[in-house]
Amino acid sequence: MALVALGVCGGIGAYKAVEVARGLQQRGHDVAAVLTANAARFVGPLTFEAITRRPVAGDQFAPGVNAQIEHIALASDLQLLLVVPATANILGKFANGIADDFLSALYLATTAPVLVAPAMNTNMLAHPAVAANLDRLAERGVRFVEPGEGYLACGWVGRGRLAEPADVVAAADRMLGAGRSLAGRRVLVTAGPTVEDLDPVRYLGNRSSGRMGYAIAAEALARGAQVDLVAGPTALEPPAGAEVFRVRGAEEMRTAVMARVAGDGDAVDLVVMVAAVADYTPAGGARDAKLLRDRDELVLTLRRTPDILAALGRWRAGRDRPVLVGFAAEVGDPVARAREKLRRKQVDLVVANDVSRPGAGFGGNTNVATLVTDTEAEEIPLGTKRELARVLLDRVEPRLAPLASGSEGAT
Ligand code: CTP
Repeated sequence: MALVALGVCGGIGAYKAVEVARGLQQRGHDVAAVLTANAARFVGPLTFEAITRRPVAGDQFAPGVNAQIEHIALASDLQLLLVVPATANILGKFANGIADDFLSALYLATTAPVLVAPAMNTNMLAHPAVAANLDRLAERGVRFVEPGEGYLACGWVGRGRLAEPADVVAAADRMLGAGRSLAGRRVLVTAGPTVEDLDPVRYLGNRSSGRMGYAIAAEALARGAQVDLVAGPTALEPPAGAEVFRVRGAEEMRTAVMARVAGDGDAVDLVVMVAAVADYTPAGGARDAKLLRDRDELVLTLRRTPDILAALGRWRAGRDRPVLVGFAAEVGDPVARAREKLRRKQVDLVVANDVSRPGAGFGGNTNVATLVTDTEAEEIPLGTKRELARVLLDRVEPRLAPLASGSEGAT
């Protein structure tokens, strides 16, 4: 089941949006209606509230609404923004980044796919201003349910009549299905740092924020995967829908990961080891009592932690799953070192981060990376961690073993 935000604009076709809401529900989707001020003049919000059994979003500035920053909350939860009917006005706002009401702000705030069903007078539709806006939106990846005779690459022709509700629902359903390429898959992601306790109050740690791992978990969830997130200490809010296992040290992370991968449950299809696992831990474990400041020099003896990724590589030998992805923080030329790691740990792909480059690595929202396989090295330019997560999963999906029989088929 997906959450669809159904934007409704002020046009005579607004009543047909009621049928679209029903059709989406019949296909098992959850619908949150968002009405513009003019839409509410054509169809009462109460109609949508009764059908969707959810409050109708409309007035961004109503008391109580902004306190929860509702358009942001909805924007991050939804899987599709569908606008029926889309007027020339809303298309103009979307194309130009104007956000003066709930629906236009939602469009800017969401990263979900957008599908619009335009409807307007023939001359309006043919106007170069509207045609330019539609072209611009199409370039940005917005999809259309064609009105009348449809959208041609050279411009718009047609009567501008809203597409039939059943066609709109089918197009929305196709888009939602197309995005669920990991349906029936089980994905395990490790994220964040591990911390190695020295005594009851001190530990050895690192600067990993967990953001990259959480972005991969969120992207896998959006694609329909069942996601286990094994997370070291981080302050981040985990993505909704992930099963979260909190751990502290490398040894605890190893136990949690191996139990999930090698345990009796469903086979794991993909493991992405994003966690910055400590390489060393105090020999003999954490001291029971707090270390005292009673000497001028303190020598700590450390021993190597288990290499979880290498253990997974050894465990997998002779099996067809899981696909194994590692991360490597390198400086200088990351490809050669990443490839050496890939072979040594017997994994399929290493995401090499040159942490010396601006915008890469720990803490921030962006990353620059090279995806290194046995034969290829693909540079991914500076982008958000979520964008890198998308590219990574796009590359990994073709490597997944066929779905175990009885699992839900990916579309
Ligand atoms: N990793 C792991 N267990 C460890 C250390 C690292 O599973 N004890 C995983 C990380 O999650 C990451 C990859 O291995 O996916 C990173 O390896 P890295 O620490 O860069 O490799 P090392 O073998 O430690 O090599 P070096 O530090 O010498 O570069």
